[in-house]
Amino acid sequence: MSYLETFDSLTYEKEVYKPSKETVKNSYVDNYDRLYEYSIKENEKFWDEIAKQLNWFRHYDKVLDASDPPFYKWFTGGKTNIVYNALDRHVTTFRKNKLALIWEGEDGCERVYTYFSLYKEVNKFANVLKSFGVKKGDTVTIYLPNIPEIAISMLACAKIGAIHSVVYAGFSAFALRDRISDAQSKLLITADGAYRGGKVIELKKIADEALTKTPVVQTVIVVRRTGKEVAIDTSRDFYYDELMKLPIANTYLKTEEMDSEDPLFILYTSGTTGKPKGILHVHGGYSVGTYITSKYVFNINDNDTYWCAADPGWITGHSYIIYGPLINGATTVMVEGSPYYPYPDRWWKIVEKHGVNIFYTSPTAIRGIMRFGENWPNRHNLSSLKILGSVGEPINPEVWRWYHKHIGKERCPIMDTWWQTESGMFLITPVPSLPLKPGSCGKPFFGIDADIFDESGKSVEAGKGGYLVIKKPWPAMMRTIYKDEDRYKKTYFSKFNDVYLAGDAAKRDKDGYFYVMGRIDDVIKVSGYRLGTAEIESAIITHEAVAESAVIGKPHDIKGNSIKAFVVLKPNIEKSDTLMDDIRSNVGKTLGPIAKPDEIEFVDSLPKTRSGKIMRRVLKARDIGIDEGDISTIEED
Ligand code: WT7
Repeated sequence: MSYLETFDSLTYEKEVYKPSKETVKNSYVDNYDRLYEYSIKENEKFWDEIAKQLNWFRHYDKVLDASDPPFYKWFTGGKTNIVYNALDRHVTTFRKNKLALIWEGEDGCERVYTYFSLYKEVNKFANVLKSFGVKKGDTVTIYLPNIPEIAISMLACAKIGAIHSVVYAGFSAFALRDRISDAQSKLLITADGAYRGGKVIELKKIADEALTKTPVVQTVIVVRRTGKEVAIDTSRDFYYDELMKLPIANTYLKTEEMDSEDPLFILYTSGTTGKPKGILHVHGGYSVGTYITSKYVFNINDNDTYWCAADPGWITGHSYIIYGPLINGATTVMVEGSPYYPYPDRWWKIVEKHGVNIFYTSPTAIRGIMRFGENWPNRHNLSSLKILGSVGEPINPEVWRWYHKHIGKERCPIMDTWWQTESGMFLITPVPSLPLKPGSCGKPFFGIDADIFDESGKSVEAGKGGYLVIKKPWPAMMRTIYKDEDRYKKTYFSKFNDVYLAGDAAKRDKDGYFYVMGRIDDVIKVSGYRLGTAEIESAIITHEAVAESAVIGKPHDIKGNSIKAFVVLKPNIEKSDTLMDDIRSNVGKTLGPIAKPDEIEFVDSLPKTRSGKIMRRVLKARDIGIDEGDISTIEED
């Protein structure tokens, strides 16, 4: 059975989990249908009402400017800054001394910041950045682990109007180099190292390697995390803690007044070609979208402790560890390291220790934890939990039930949030008062006009699979692919004229619940990480023994998908297990450990179309053992 077919056998219409009366009573949204209907009918009015809940240096003139689709503009004429809403507006209220950030290191150390102390740290670091000549519109690359300085760096950039480009700390030197070159960052922020699963990852060393081939970077700021000695080039490298002690690092700085449409950040993500896409988000709409989705979906209140266990290096961390929760004035928890180290109850220990009320993670993490059995969570008092969340890939119904029973104790609704780097905010998701169905990501968020199209662009009937599309723009949507407007238009808006094509296959049941089945392009979600087959293939062929390669995703119990590579060797090269290992580790070095193929098969040739395109779909069908024509009628060559 193929991965997509497993969804056909779902008994999704029968299994419904109703919210408790208390959940409904305590929800910001107690009637999904009513608000949804209004939000679509009066779309701009709805977004206007939400946007008014934020602070603006100058109120906007227009909610939506749709004069040049698909280049939509929101809240035009408005002046704001995401930091104005995430920090500045809280320090003059009762939230001044409330905890903004609780951080747990893998080595057991803990750091906390109140809104006021975080505000001051951000101001100090923003002053430091300015002293290096960073100005509005400049890009800064951030290559940091899951430590408070990543949040401080991002907020400091935003504060002065610089565009941050965070590169996940699991990426290799080559991947970092490409992303620095594309963004043309003159300044890089990194750390001496990072902890993960008891090991140290030598970030500074990787950064140095990346920089040998990117002359654009003039300044490197190094955060001390491990305290281990690293190579320092005194003409270029500065320690963060030393800079923060200088008189220039003043605790006050006025927040830059930005146009709503001014860029806030670039985040690179994988697409169909080998070149990653720099997804560009802006201050105004992104603030509004992350604010309201965090509030309505997680029902965050001032007494809540909220924990999103993602890495800030991905969009989930940007939107739902940092910006969304801080705009809401919430207490957000950040945790460095692995969920299994030193023991597989590390996360539940943290929930208990901080009295976490809202907990948000990925299906891969839950599947990983499930392996060790429920005794691990059962050792801890998880009664503080009220709401759970899931993101990154489809959650299998049996995993959903385990999470619901053993973590949520059948009390906590699970918010299975479907969205993307490109969307900036949740697009399809339940709210706590909506009845839930395991395996479904619920219904479209307010203001989101989601649909499922067939090949000809017609909406499909309930139960049928098709292309997941969004028919109206939304405030937090990306504005373009950095320096590549054509690719933006072509990738997302050309298949169905001016309708947003998400790249996923989905279906809907008769109650309007959505089920996302997986990617339909050459993107694979491995452990929730998004990787392009072309990207992995390019990494494979950098090995001198390899002539050609094709990569497919295969269903995997824990990771959702695993990576299988078909490799054609150069003439006269001997196949061997050592060579296989060598090719794998070369991918790790070229792209990052997350991209290493789980399986390599040496083949003599690859199936191709007449025009020479590799037919990955045929390889996949053969591999899973199904008829080649059947794998998916909507998957393209
Ligand atoms: C792709 C986007 C959005 C934050 C993390 C991933 C898949 C995401 C779900 C979900 C089923 C999901 C889709 C999507 N995806 N959330 N709840 N159910 N699939 O962002 O790396 O840009 O990946 O992740 O395939 O297109 P991303």
